[in-house]
Amino acid sequence: MYSAKVLEHLESPRNVGALPDASACGEATNPVCGDLLKLYVKVENDVITATGFQIEGCPPSIAAGSALTEMLAGMTTAEAAALTPNDVTHALESLPRNKEHCSLLAIDALRSALAQLRRDVV
Ligand code: FES
Repeated sequence: MYSAKVLEHLESPRNVGALPDASACGEATNPVCGDLLKLYVKVENDVITATGFQIEGCPPSIAAGSALTEMLAGMTTAEAAALTPNDVTHALESLPRNKEHCSLLAIDALRSALAQLRRDVV
């Protein structure tokens, strides 16, 4: 039912946990299923140098958070802002149709973190 990539992220989730020296922490909740994802990013010279995530959610949302943190490493904030839920789903090979919104949860947390960064710069 889950792709090999989802299973691999579930077996060894990347970047789990809060990042004590994060530049920003974004949070997203899905009001229907109640899953909650917090995404931490550390940004230096506009490049994401470290990430972390915390999740209260289903297995695919764990995999989505893990895959997103892996993708973000080394990206500029502009590159990160251009990511879409499809990019996360693609990184996981696929998600069951009723779990595709788990990628959106991860991207919503990212957008929240990037918005926080922009507010801090102003
Ligand atoms: Fe809703 Fe995973 S089931 S985010």
